[in-house]
Amino acid sequence: MTSPAFAALPTPLADLLSSRRFGRIVVFSGAGMSEDSGIPTFRSGSNGLWSAFDPQQLATPEAWHRDRALVWGWYEWRRGLVAAARPHPGHVALARLQREAGAGIVTQNVDDLHERAGATDVVHLHGSLFAPRCETCGTPAQLPPPPAGDPAQRLEPPRCERCPALIRPGVVWFGESLEPAVVDKASRHIAACDLLVIVGTSGTVYPAAGLVALAADGVPVLEINPQRAEVASNVDFRWRSTAAQALPLLVEALLEAGTADHKC
Ligand code: OAD
Repeated sequence: MTSPAFAALPTPLADLLSSRRFGRIVVFSGAGMSEDSGIPTFRSGSNGLWSAFDPQQLATPEAWHRDRALVWGWYEWRRGLVAAARPHPGHVALARLQREAGAGIVTQNVDDLHERAGATDVVHLHGSLFAPRCETCGTPAQLPPPPAGDPAQRLEPPRCERCPALIRPGVVWFGESLEPAVVDKASRHIAACDLLVIVGTSGTVYPAAGLVALAADGVPVLEINPQRAEVASNVDFRWRSTAAQALPLLVEALLEAGTADHKC
């Protein structure tokens, strides 16, 4: 008899998870992970942020130098969106998978929804909306709660408490390098995993998207995405579902597989 946890999965995935146990699971997430919490993605149809806004005007060092109030206002709007959002059952399931099975979580997201669901070790490849820092000396800044605002609001960035420079968003912009230590940690996680779960990314932004290719030959790669995505050539299983729907089912089955012999 198949247990309910496995019956809820697509058959090829249920077959895989019932054939062996996975001890080093890594989840690689993108903006679609937070879509079910009401945070817009960048490229999903007409709702994507990059349909409404030009990344060259908002998410590059040149944009920042050209018009800091515009850029700061846009990121404060986004910080407000995230602060008002709540983690969904998929975030909660991944936090449980980390707590109970030591899963690694590598994200391109700059929100804190994985952490607010209970994950304690999240690798943020593209930085964080909640880690602003001085543009000159790098001193981290404490910000008050974000103001209620709109994406076109102009806000003057605050000044650093240590030097006369301004505070900038703690995210990685187009044209900037990813933090080497962060890339190194993400790479080690992925290269050592024995199951890679890719969720909610279009796989179009490098070098982050290229990291999924570091999974060793023969390591099963599962993609969860309601749409077709060109994430990686090494995807073995495509589950056309959302993060909020699929991840609780997946985690339930993985934890059941890890704790009991469910083949009966
Ligand atoms: P994208 O907006 O490019 O892709 C989001 C993906 O999520 C798409 O493939 C959607 O089909 C999928 N998706 C939508 N809803 C979903 C749901 N409910 N559950 C699961 N998947 C869903 O976002 P990213 O791939 O994360 O970079 O974008 C990568 C980078 O581009 C971002 O980190 C950001 C952006 O410019 C920087 O800011 C540097």
